Amino acid sequence: MKKKLLLTGASGFLGYHILRVFARDWEIYGIGNAKTFDFAGATAIKCDITNYIELGNFMDDIEPDAVIHTAAIADANFCQQNPDLSYSVNVDASKNLAGICCDFQIPFVFTSTDLVFDGKKGMYQEEDEKSPVSVYGEQKAKAEDEILKIYPESTVFRLPIMFGYPQASTGNYLHNFLNQVNNRQVANLFNDEYRSVCGAKSISEGILQLLGKSSGVVHLAGKERLSRYDFGMKAVAAFGLDPAFVKESSQKEMKSAAPRPADVSLNINKAINLGFLPLSVHEELEQIVNGKYF
Ligand SMILES: NC(=O)c1ccc[n+]([C@@H]2O[C@H](COP(=O)([O-])OP(=O)(O)OC[C@H]3O[C@@H](n4cnc5c(N)ncnc54)[C@H](OP(=O)(O)O)[C@@H]3O)[C@@H](O)[C@H]2O)c1
Repeated sequence: MKKKLLLTGASGFLGYHILRVFARDWEIYGIGNAKTFDFAGATAIKCDITNYIELGNFMDDIEPDAVIHTAAIADANFCQQNPDLSYSVNVDASKNLAGICCDFQIPFVFTSTDLVFDGKKGMYQEEDEKSPVSVYGEQKAKAEDEILKIYPESTVFRLPIMFGYPQASTGNYLHNFLNQVNNRQVANLFNDEYRSVCGAKSISEGILQLLGKSSGVVHLAGKERLSRYDFGMKAVAAFGLDPAFVKESSQKEMKSAAPRPADVSLNINKAINLGFLPLSVHEELEQIVNGKYF
């Protein structure tokens, strides 16, 4: 009999990929809130995770063997302008879920972000001091601390910016960018903002592989430190689009509600030592282009 997984954020971008990777081995109960999802291998549940009574009832009914918590308000600009609303989802609901998983004594995975760092150093290690520059980064950093206080056996995966299946969600970074270039509109991409970009399938495979094998903070990201422009050029080449529509720009020239760190690339040696083997950006893009992704 398959083990039961409760996945929050199943209607989101990363949830789309986790559903497909985990469905091989797990019976999945996926939570969406405003949106739903349709996937043959999973049961869709509608629940606002800030409603603790409803969420607690679902946990009691399902009795999951593990919880992967990807639900979040992950738009940094929205968090900057709506700190209280985003806090209730990103911090309070995350603490509540950690507490329930502690009561159940089951593995709990929290998906955090490279934006817990200020970007002044780059290639951050797990033990480097957190220094978020945005409300979103602050909330994720706070949630990490609270979760590990409440349930030290939890696993906090700090993730980089991800790309994945173009149809996965409307907020998909790759999807929006490719549409723009395909429509012969110029895409301006930062050449001075670095991340350890990784495909969401590699990240999902990594979560599956490391689930229950490691507690505390683990950086799960790509091996390559790339600027958004570097990534854009790789994507355009893989999809056979015209690179003339991709232009370099500087993050210093763009005003956004949330401050943007310059280099939040992550050192992933700990994850690699645990057996994490992400595809390169080129390899994962090729799989998408060739229809060999899922
Ligand atoms: N995408 C990235 O590049 C990236 C990078 C670093 C870290 N992360 C982290 O990875 C996780 C997943 O990100 P993502 O890109 O998949 O985000 P996403 O596409 O914006 O999805 C967010 C998910 O959270 C759910 N959600 C939000 N508020 C909720 C509530 N009150 N109750 C129940 N569900 C709620 C949404 O459900 P509905 O839409 O149905 O309401 C959706 O399924 C997040 O924790 C994020 O911080 C993402």
